[in-house]
Amino acid sequence: MNKNAFGEDFNWGVSTAAYQIEGAHEAEGKGASIWDVFSGTKGKVKLNHNGNLACDFFNRYPDDLQLMQIMHIPNFRFSLSWSRLLPDGYGRLNKAGLDYYNRLIDHCLELGITPWVTLYHWDLPHALEMQGGWTNRLVLEWFQEYAALCVSQFGDRVKHWMVLNEPMVFTGAGYFLGVHAPGRRGFGSFVPAVHHAALCQAIGGRTIRSLQPETTIGTTFSCSYIEPFRPHEKDVRAARRVDALLNRLFLEPALGLGYPLDDLKFMRRIEKYMQPGDEEMLAFDFDFIGVQNYTREVVKYSFWTPFLQASLVPPRKRNVPYTLMNWEVYPESIYHILQQFSRYPNIPKLIVTENGAAFPDQLLNGQVHDPQRVSFLQQYLQQVLRAKEEGAKVAGYFVWSFVDNFEWAEGYDPRFGLVHVDYETLQRTIKSSGYWYRDFLQGKATL
Ligand code: BGC
Repeated sequence: MNKNAFGEDFNWGVSTAAYQIEGAHEAEGKGASIWDVFSGTKGKVKLNHNGNLACDFFNRYPDDLQLMQIMHIPNFRFSLSWSRLLPDGYGRLNKAGLDYYNRLIDHCLELGITPWVTLYHWDLPHALEMQGGWTNRLVLEWFQEYAALCVSQFGDRVKHWMVLNEPMVFTGAGYFLGVHAPGRRGFGSFVPAVHHAALCQAIGGRTIRSLQPETTIGTTFSCSYIEPFRPHEKDVRAARRVDALLNRLFLEPALGLGYPLDDLKFMRRIEKYMQPGDEEMLAFDFDFIGVQNYTREVVKYSFWTPFLQASLVPPRKRNVPYTLMNWEVYPESIYHILQQFSRYPNIPKLIVTENGAAFPDQLLNGQVHDPQRVSFLQQYLQQVLRAKEEGAKVAGYFVWSFVDNFEWAEGYDPRFGLVHVDYETLQRTIKSSGYWYRDFLQGKATL
């Protein structure tokens, strides 16, 4: 099978995020983000790595875009750094940040690469976190101002927008577990953060549509296919709770179905933060839903896990293959999740906005040979095609990631790129997976 099997109008691309690639953390008037502060705090990120320099994409974007063009990649997903544009989160505009994104967008278009822009990929301005960040309802106003700014400045050239990147991850890891920025823990932070993020995803959509009615608007979700460990009632119910938490908590309110509280009783405290009109305000008719899938999760009942009473059975305990992130390689996961989402009656089209894997790549004699990644991409793509052929409304696929980059709390060790980055010299080397994707996109390589 080659690329033609997916149809002519299938959207192919690669994904990145501002904090993971840009560097230039203090350049030209940029304000600090919560990730600058978190990674600058000892012990928060593995080996105390930080994104101060990252891939230096801020300065090297012309070369990187040229590489993208050489690789025949038609669509480039990247995010905007809120604090590069609005150093205090609102109010004062940083002209240099605006100029940078204008140059980047213009350069994409000059090279025939279509920009797909995420408004928020986890790097909240630190100034806003000092006022409560996502737990403060004022974030609705801050976010609306930021979204309106981005669309009014770039919307003449950017025609594909994504509002949030994986709200379940940035609220769960950042406000409940404390393992991502801003490092807060507990229900008291998590629950309001969830509600405000869910409202912002719809507010962001409405703001973009009001300013650019013709533009394509999506938002993205982390999703893993969930299966019970054993076919016992207790494990089946535990799996259902984890599915509601990981896959449905943000999607269903956007679809107008409200929060899945029947399956997540402990989240009922969210009602405390609901104001009149919120239920309707949570819904927005997105043009597409961004599906970000890497793995499946196998779940068992756990008496000891508070609230959720469920725990994940890691792949090494199940004797199945897994990546450097300890995520199971399970291509059928993407098939099942595309099918699961397609079953909602009012679901818009689905675009896989992230899929990829971290393997222990090595640069040897100027080459990176990564057959595991090639096979990973081929197998997952076969499952995307299978879902499409069986009626799933999938309309695109973006590899995570274009280049190796800062993998959040894991630092620089897990490499996800199609392009290798030498972090000493910042030199780029296209991996064999990058060459494979190039050939595939030209219809020359098969799955
Ligand atoms: C995120 C990326 C991240 C990737 C791999 C997704 O959760 O959107 O920022 O690097 O997965 O972990």
